[in-house]
Order: sequence, then C-alpha cells, then structure tokens
Amino acid sequence: MKSEETETVEEYIVKGGTPLKGEVRISGAKNAALGILAGAIMADEPVTVENVPDVRDTHVILNAIEGVGAGVKEVDKNTYIINGKSIHSIDIQYEQVKKIRASYYLIGALLGKYHEAKVALPGGCDIGSRPIDMHIKGFKALGAEVDIMAGGVVWARAEKLTGANIYFDMVSVGATINLMLAACMAEGDTILENAAKEPHIVDVANFLNAMGASIKGAGTDVIRIKGVEKLHSATYSIIPDQIEAGTFMVGAAITGGDVTVCDVIPKHLESISAKLMEMGCTIEEGDDTVRVIGAKRLTSTNIKTLPYPGFPTDMQPQIAVALALAKGTSMVTESVFDNRFRYIDELARMGGHGKVEGNTVYIDGVEKFSGAQVAAPDLRAGAALVLAALAAEGFSEIEDIIYIQRGYEDFDGKLRSLGASIQIVSDDREAQKFRLKTG
Ligand code: UD1
Repeated sequence: MKSEETETVEEYIVKGGTPLKGEVRISGAKNAALGILAGAIMADEPVTVENVPDVRDTHVILNAIEGVGAGVKEVDKNTYIINGKSIHSIDIQYEQVKKIRASYYLIGALLGKYHEAKVALPGGCDIGSRPIDMHIKGFKALGAEVDIMAGGVVWARAEKLTGANIYFDMVSVGATINLMLAACMAEGDTILENAAKEPHIVDVANFLNAMGASIKGAGTDVIRIKGVEKLHSATYSIIPDQIEAGTFMVGAAITGGDVTVCDVIPKHLESISAKLMEMGCTIEEGDDTVRVIGAKRLTSTNIKTLPYPGFPTDMQPQIAVALALAKGTSMVTESVFDNRFRYIDELARMGGHGKVEGNTVYIDGVEKFSGAQVAAPDLRAGAALVLAALAAEGFSEIEDIIYIQRGYEDFDGKLRSLGASIQIVSDDREAQKFRLKTG
C-alpha cells in the first residue's frame, strides 16, 4: 500500500487539441470498493476482493483496517486478501482516515461485528455540507448509543443490535451502505426504506451476501436484511466504475474523439449515454462496452443531477465542462449537493462561460477553450478540468491532482493510451521539457 508522507507536489501538464481515440479498460468502482473493503473485516476468515481500483481512497481504507489489526495481503495491485480475525482495536484514528469521507463505513462494519466503534469523523471532497445524521439515526434505531466526542470522533456502542424499520428522510448512498453493514449481523430483521439504488449499493449487498449475509431488495428503494450470526470467507470481484467510465465517455465527446470504454456495465451508463446522444454524440452499446463517437460540434442541453437511475452528481462537472463547448445555452442543476460548482471559476480561466445561481449553472457554450493554469477543487471537478484541458488549445497545467488520484486509477496513463498529451510533472524543469517535446 502507498503512503503519502514522502511524496512531492505534482501536477498534470496537458497539451490539448488531440481527439481521444481507442479503447480503455475501466477499473473497479471506487465507491463500491470502500464499502466492500470495510465490510471485508466483518468475517474472521480470509476474504478475497478482486478488481479493487488502485487509487488513493482505497489505500486509505486498507491502511486504516490494517492499523486496527486486520490482515491485509496484497496479491497484486487490484487484489487483496483481508482477514478480520486479528483485529485488536475498534478505534480508528483521525490521522488514518482524515482524507476520506467513506471512513464512516468503518463505523457500520465495526459496530455490526464488535458492537462498538470509535471512528474519526469523515473528510473527503469539500462539496457542500455533508452531514451523517441519517447514519447515526439508523445506528440508534438498531439499539446503539452514539456520541460525537471531542476531536470529532464518532463513538457508537451497543449491548446488542436488534433489527429495526429505518426510513431515510433523504436518499443517501452512504447511509444505505452503512446500515446494511451494521444490520447484517444484528438480531432479527431490518427494513431500510427510501434506500439509495446506486449500482454500488447492489454491489456491496452482493458482496455481503457472498459472505453469508441475507440482504434482499438492494437496487430498489426497500432493502430487507435478515440478521445472521456470522459472516464467512468469500471471493468477490468489484463492479466497474460508472463514474470513471462516464468520464472517459465525456472525454470522447469533448475532444471530438472516438472512445470505447471496456469492461463496463452499459446499463449503469444509460443516463450518461442518453445525455451524450442529446448533445449530438453517437453511442454504440456492446455487451460490456460502450463506444462514444464525438460530434463535429456538441449541442446544448439541460441536466439535473438525481440519485440513481438519474444523472449522477459525480458526473456533473465533467458533462458541464463539455456543455461549455456546446452550441447554445445549457442549464445544469445540482440537486444532490449544495456547493458543487467551484470549478466554474477555474473553467473561466480557459475561457468557459458559466453563471451560477443557487443550485443551477447557466452555461453559454464557447467555440474553444485556451490552455491555462488551473487547480482541481475536488475529485470530479479536477477530472472535469483535465477534460477541458484536453479540448483546449495549447498547454494547461492542473494543480492539486492529489484529488484526482483519490478516485482515478492511472488517469494520465489511460488518457495517454487514447492519444492524449498529458504527463505528471513535479517541477518547472519537467514542465518545460514536456512543452519542448510536444510543442
Ligand atoms: C456518495 C458517494 C459520492 C456521491 C454521493 C451521491 C461514496 C464514498 N461517495 O457520497 O461520490 O457524490 O454518494 O451519489 O460513495 N445527507 C444528509 N444526511 C446524511 C447523509 C447524507 O443530509 O446522514 C445528504 C448529503 O448532504 C447529500 C445527500 O444526502 O446532500 C446525498 O448524500 P449521500 O448519498 O449520503 O452521499 P455520500 O454517501 O456522502
């Protein structure tokens, strides 16, 4: 596993203007992996997890579970064997998990297995207020006492956990997964109502069922969980990442290219495919591939983010950046988070026009972007700015790529394989070398 302590500050340098062309293999779903790697500690036997994306967030979770004593064996960069038998502590320190919000899954997993968890409050991308009140309400409904202690540590504990009916006031991916984790070894039945339906919810449920849990209805808004006494050894392969695939699809659209995303589940990409078609792209679906052929000039459209099967909030910045090059005016409404347009100011440096009013950005498409120096405000917005740079004339530098590396495996390598001129550089000399080589 990787540590971040000794790393230098890196940025991407991009020379735009080359259409992306070819095939790209999509990695395992980061958001499924985080729930699954947390859940893997719930058995006292080895659990093999395959297709784990090699990204910073999964390394943070792996380090955190190793830190409390779980066995973590790296078979290869995408396969791990986890064994929860040797866990000696239920205390996850802030230093170990401050960088990712999904550390909250360790509360559900530890509470579910040991009836106690002390986990530092989540970090992650700064995209508006992201409370965890529904997670806490759910744990309490199962019989846990939950306190937020000094230093922002969540302390949850219970004599025993008992199944309950839990209604979520809002559709929440995190709360749904966390309650599946906490309830799968509780006594009796739990019903989760108004549950999230994202593909990664189904994946975590399938994974827990492979370990002996009894979870039904994942993928619908009512999930029924029959508590089991213990979970056992399993081997499981994580589904492909919907958002990584969507990002490359938009990459094809924005550069006027022709890209086939491989090893994907086309159904999970339907909302993205539909919007790209509205924007003038051609989409060809195979059994496990989606090919996107860009248009001569994209056309404007309106988009509203919604929980699955709606258009994913995690694709909002990428598609908005493509709309900023489309003919006409587009309206993008963000209805899941309340501060997810911070990249619009960065895009303006490249010549993009967007006006944010409340939860909507009004975008006036321009004919071209020009390369500029920008900073990634968060994971998905960072990826969106890279796409903008690939479409821009001239050179761009994207700083703070550590955000992008949280969720994209070998982003620059995969883009290069599609013909992009992009490189990671850590100082001006390297940037200059890239300019000379490609200019
Ligand atoms: C997960 C994803 C994230 C994605 C988001 C929405 C992971 C690790 N992250 O985040 O990439 O953008 O789903 O698809 O899987 N809310 C509350 N109280 C709660 C929980 C959530 O009010 O207790 C609100 C949030 O502030 C937000 C909305 O519910 O407005 C949806 O959030 P949620 O689905 O929980 O997002 P995350 O699980 O944090």
